[in-house]
Amino acid sequence: MTVIKKDFLWGGATAANQYEGGWDLDGKGISLSDMCTGGSEDHPREITPQLQKDKFYPSHTAVDFYHHYEEDIELAHELGCRALRLSISWTRIFPTGMEAEPNEKGLLFYEKIFQKMKACQIEPLVTISHYEMPYALIETYNGWSSREVVDLYLRYCRVIFDRYKDLVKYWITFNEINAGTMPAGVPLALGCVKGYAGPMLSYPVDLQRMYQCLHHQFIAGAKAVIWAKEHYPWFQIGCMSSFSVKYPRTCDPDTMLQTQKEMRITNWFCSDVQIRGEYPSYMTRFFEDNEIKIDSLPEDAQILKRGVVDFYSCSYYMSTCVAPETNGEGRIRGNLADGIKNPYLKESQWGWQIDPRGLRYSLNEIYDRYKIPIMVVENGLGAEDKPEEDGSIRDFYRIDYLRQHIEQMKEAVRDGVDLIGYMVWGWVDLVSASTGEMKKRYGLVYVDRHDDGTGDYQRRKKDSFYWYQKVIQTNGEKLS
Ligand code: BG6
Repeated sequence: MTVIKKDFLWGGATAANQYEGGWDLDGKGISLSDMCTGGSEDHPREITPQLQKDKFYPSHTAVDFYHHYEEDIELAHELGCRALRLSISWTRIFPTGMEAEPNEKGLLFYEKIFQKMKACQIEPLVTISHYEMPYALIETYNGWSSREVVDLYLRYCRVIFDRYKDLVKYWITFNEINAGTMPAGVPLALGCVKGYAGPMLSYPVDLQRMYQCLHHQFIAGAKAVIWAKEHYPWFQIGCMSSFSVKYPRTCDPDTMLQTQKEMRITNWFCSDVQIRGEYPSYMTRFFEDNEIKIDSLPEDAQILKRGVVDFYSCSYYMSTCVAPETNGEGRIRGNLADGIKNPYLKESQWGWQIDPRGLRYSLNEIYDRYKIPIMVVENGLGAEDKPEEDGSIRDFYRIDYLRQHIEQMKEAVRDGVDLIGYMVWGWVDLVSASTGEMKKRYGLVYVDRHDDGTGDYQRRKKDSFYWYQKVIQTNGEKLS
């Protein structure tokens, strides 16, 4: 029985700041990611408000997609990809975010990419903002703290919508917008780090600021949707969350209530606003309890109502448990989430709890709630690959991970979920967002680039490349 739709968007995903390099080429401005140092599990990445000569900034070179885009798109074609998700770097188009006119060379770069994808029959899925706010907007407005940024984002959206209207149909307004509800995600997602120097994942929590920034992003995203739909009604625009399901560690009713609360704030709140077009009722209590007052304009309610998205998308990597009392049970972190260990699950090399059945559960919950098409736009395993002497990369662990998740995704489809796409995260090795490492590789394609700055960026197919190629060829039927 065929489970997956014929036109299902099988593909891979990347983000400009982790992939492109060329950080100062052809008029590109500096983004927040360009100010983040490399790191590791033991040495957290840092944000340095000035570039320091003795530090390594991985986004500056990344894996040099800037000069390898033709080769990579040809590889995607060979892989059989029907779609590729990539992000546009805001600072290639508006170097400070505040110029009146866009940077033509930046626009041309992406035009060439989309033309090449068209020639290869690959559908682009474009993330408009993926963790890389123009640094000048941080210095001037403290990121999304200021409402001024809404119109600057809109200007950027209009320019790229106009320019690529005939080449791009699928758009995502913000990557993992709900990262703004999780302390670890605040700097990269909200950019409100003016005057801050220090570890990227330990930014001090300020709930008032976080939710105000998010409000501005909701308004900006909704305005972009409204404008796009008026001019290009064929566009399909989605929201995007990092979905990390939380299970109650016990059936204690207190634990159930705590789980419900955490699920609402971290997993549901943002997409509830973006899909239902209004703040959910449960946030009133949360704002009261935390003395949060959202500064809004009278027209905001209408903007949110009119600017709802067409599809839901998410990244999915792992799950955690919730327990009000930890009783000494281990905590677990990963992909911005934070919780208690689950004794039924194993962890990745970077301690992310692997939970394929959680994907089926999550997709069912999401679809029950929203009843709109869903795309899994990130899923994959970060692992250290050790090439064999002959250069081949036998990444059976990555194949296992992907196979198990695709199996469960198919179960979700059989459960009735309207799933329209699946993208392997970092299908070409790229810089890790959380640790800034190259060592943590996700790719189906290996890139010769290392944390000490060596490597010639040569691309090599891993075993997982050939495996995924078969998966796509058989539309998900053959997973062995
Ligand atoms: C998602 C992000 O959170 O997870 C990506 O959208 C990121 O940018 C991916 O790379 C994997 O996380 P990491 O930290 O292992 O790179």
